[in-house]
Amino acid sequence: MAVAALRWLVVILIFPTAALADAVNRGQYLFTIAGCTNCHTSAKDAAATVAGGDALKTPFGTFYGPNITPDPATGIGTWSLADFKRAMRRGQRPDGSLYFPVFPYTSYSAMSDQDLDHLWRYLQTLPAVNKPSTAHQIRWPFGWRGSMRFWNWLYLPAAVEHPGADMTATAVERGQYIADHLAHCGECHTPRTILGGRDLDRYWAGGVVEGDDVPNITADNEHGIGEWSTDDLTMLLSIGMLPDGDFVGGSMGHVIHGTSALTAADQAALISYIRTVPAKRHDIAKRK
Ligand code: HEC
Ligand code: HEC
Repeated sequence: MAVAALRWLVVILIFPTAALADAVNRGQYLFTIAGCTNCHTSAKDAAATVAGGDALKTPFGTFYGPNITPDPATGIGTWSLADFKRAMRRGQRPDGSLYFPVFPYTSYSAMSDQDLDHLWRYLQTLPAVNKPSTAHQIRWPFGWRGSMRFWNWLYLPAAVEHPGADMTATAVERGQYIADHLAHCGECHTPRTILGGRDLDRYWAGGVVEGDDVPNITADNEHGIGEWSTDDLTMLLSIGMLPDGDFVGGSMGHVIHGTSALTAADQAALISYIRTVPAKRHDIAKRK
């Protein structure tokens, strides 16, 4: 009798705590792979996690990732989980106004309900930092948030959960989920149209970020990574080393911080997906 009661007590007290800790750990994993700190934490104040990021230069202006700590005054401390999901999937503020797509919600929109839940729980555990976000400096005429309605109509896919969010998905599906919807490889490696949308006909054929060329990572032998072995990809994703022994830097260095945290199964899944991306060419020189 006493044992049975004790067992119940254990179930009631320990189980929810364990489940919560598990959700927070899952959330931290997603947070790392999805690179939230890359834009929301300043290199000058790395201890103030997601309290506001450094300048992100784009052809449309200079943007700053805002404070997304649980601070009620300067962060997102007053938000509900539903507000968070609407921001991540629909690029919408709680008041209904629209974000600029420098926040890669077009990539995050296919994250699963459960993953967004876990990510939210993890964000709640971060220390609240009272620090006002830096205002963007947007070039005329791009500063009008209302115009994003048209942009979203062109480029924001329907918020359909990607099957790869499910751990029982095939390796290729899981890898695509990680590449497209968590680590958002295409935000940098896919060229953009004149309106700043991703040109999916040239998926991963090479882009431009902060004025620098981003390499082609399709299976093209000459321009892409068609000749890379699985070991080459493993070395890059684990420690950032290129086949010639050099190390990637800049924004790709931040990406490696995320991919190096992948579980062995997720890393293998990502590589198997990378292998399926067909060769595409994008002559960057032509655009100049
Ligand atoms: C490439 C840079 C970049 C990455 C990566 C990024 N964000 Fe952002 N995020 C931004 C920018 C810039 C804004 C502001 C957009 C605007 O003002 O229209 C923003 C806005 C937000 C907002 C709205 C905040 C507010 O006060 O309205 C939330 C929430 C958010 N991001 C969460 C995340 C999470 C969670 C991740 C990781 C899964 C993430 N972001 C990754 C750049 C980024
Ligand atoms: C924030 C922008 C950004 C994101 C996101 C990004 N990359 Fe990169 N990537 C770069 C840049 C810039 C380089 C060139 C870095 C260098 O040479 O130092 C690069 C280099 C690479 C290379 C080396 C290619 C070569 O020929 O040298 C590979 C492979 C690669 N990225 C794969 C990926 C994959 C896979 C993802 C998603 C998991 C990803 N990248 C996400 C910006 C990005």
